[in-house]
Amino acid sequence: MLIKTAEFICSNTQISKLPPPVMPEYAFIGRSNVGKSSLINMLSAKKGMAKTSQTPGKTQLINHFLINDNWYIVDLPGYGYARVSKNKKEDWNKFIRTYLDKRESLQCVMVLIDSRLEPQKIDIEFCNWLGEKGLPFVLIFTKADKQSAVKTDQNVAKFKKALKATFEEVPPYFVTSSETHDGRDKVLAFIADTNRH
Ligand code: GTP
Ligand code: MG
Repeated sequence: MLIKTAEFICSNTQISKLPPPVMPEYAFIGRSNVGKSSLINMLSAKKGMAKTSQTPGKTQLINHFLINDNWYIVDLPGYGYARVSKNKKEDWNKFIRTYLDKRESLQCVMVLIDSRLEPQKIDIEFCNWLGEKGLPFVLIFTKADKQSAVKTDQNVAKFKKALKATFEEVPPYFVTSSETHDGRDKVLAFIADTNRH
């Protein structure tokens, strides 16, 4: 898919204020600092459109970006950031889970996983929750430039194995790097194929 236009539309804390659910959307989610905002900028070829930071917890709102005037990329706050109060974590959980569960225009949840790490409990639990809700999702392993392809493959295999405990079929997955742009074409091709617009 060719990205002709990409523009920031709005940031929200209230589900009632989100754009009308008339265009398909793809939501990017994962642990704090996993590289969601960087990946969104890489996919849309627009540096700085989604705000990135070395400090976890940068993205705090539901951010809508309109692509090619006919579908949305949604940047979500990261989960599992240790330095956030328990109350704030619970608020986040409720807010994001309501968004994911109720948003009728949501086509697919893009779950970002740090390719450098062994399977993390919080990621597996989140995937299991998506499975329970029957929400379609794919895995995107990020930061592949940070280690050898062999190491990435090992971590991907371990993650798939961990999911097999609850899923008959492991969802599609992609290996990406926002530095080298690896995986960009494949993720965009997946979106083009599944985009009902
Ligand atoms: P929150 O909004 O805080 O949840 O974080 P996020 O998931 O949006 O992460 P963000 O895109 O802000 O990236 C976090 C840090 O990782 C930044 O310092 C990025 O430059 C770095 N980073 C992200 N993706 C990659 C990648 O593919 N390769 C490398 N080497 N660094 C990356
Ligand atoms: Mg972010």
